[in-house]
Amino acid sequence: MNTLKINNLSLTYKNGHQAIQNFSLEINNGMFGLLGPNGAGKSSLMKTIVGLQKPSSGSIMFNDVDIVGNTNYIKKNLGFLPQDFGVYPKVSANDLLNHIAILKGIKNNDERSTQIQYLLQKVNLWDFKDKEVHTFSGGMKQRFGVAQALLGKPKIIIVDEPTAGLDPEERNRFNTLLNDISTEVIVILSTHLVEDVKNLCSEMTIMNKGKILKSGRPKELISTLDNKIWSKSIKKEELKFYQTNFNVISQQLIERQLHVTIFSMERPKNFEATTPLLEHVYFYALSQNNE
Ligand SMILES: Nc1ncnc2c1ncn2[C@@H]1O[C@H](COP(=O)(O)OP(=O)(O)O)[C@@H](O)[C@H]1O
Ligand SMILES: [Mg+2]
Repeated sequence: MNTLKINNLSLTYKNGHQAIQNFSLEINNGMFGLLGPNGAGKSSLMKTIVGLQKPSSGSIMFNDVDIVGNTNYIKKNLGFLPQDFGVYPKVSANDLLNHIAILKGIKNNDERSTQIQYLLQKVNLWDFKDKEVHTFSGGMKQRFGVAQALLGKPKIIIVDEPTAGLDPEERNRFNTLLNDISTEVIVILSTHLVEDVKNLCSEMTIMNKGKILKSGRPKELISTLDNKIWSKSIKKEELKFYQTNFNVISQQLIERQLHVTIFSMERPKNFEATTPLLEHVYFYALSQNNE
């Protein structure tokens, strides 16, 4: 079992912006979802965990080793797919993986080619191994990104917004692949899409403005909203009234009819009971955070 422990982590950039504020979290093997809107601080957190930048204060321990002071330890055990990965030289998939494997310190030739073959098959790119990576589609590039992250048998895999730019089918395939490998390692998936976390992640954290808003198992977070989510179809002109008088967590056009979904401890008159979803957990947490 691997454990990542983040304790009281804060990060302030040189311009004074506080991107992470008193962040504490423990993550074990399995797939962990870090969900938050653009600017929440997800990439700042990932880059700090992998040792690309130093926190202003706080500690990060991986398997009881302090990895802020010892970035080599995390680098040895890490597979990282950064948000802006995607610019590739004119080199074949096989050659590029070989190059990265050497950089990762896999010195033995047989060991390198065994791992590369295994990973290219695992991400479904074996038939394209001699094709130049820069000609790959978005989904193929992301799968290549996973293959390079898995080289060297890492114990912790961090993928930052991997599904941005993928079509739904590619996203599905990509998420299934991550899920497959997450049984024996920690996989941290950062995303702004509730869809990516739903069904996939056994644990999750919702963050915004550098802070944790909610943490737990998706099912448990959803059940905290049982009998507290209500909806109603309204006229467009009425929206202001509902926003002023109710805790509106989302509004939606369904067949040209406007629906509002609200949070309330009791059923307001003329509202219908609605089964809570992870989307409601997310938007409710954000709405509370914006007050
Ligand atoms: N190098 C930097 N210097 C100053 N501010 C930054 C830097 N990188 C990110 N930020 C700011 O920190 C906040 C969090 O950014 P980021 O971690 O990229 O969020 P996310 O990945 O969740 O979209 C944003 O307000 C962003 O503008
Ligand atoms: Mg980001």
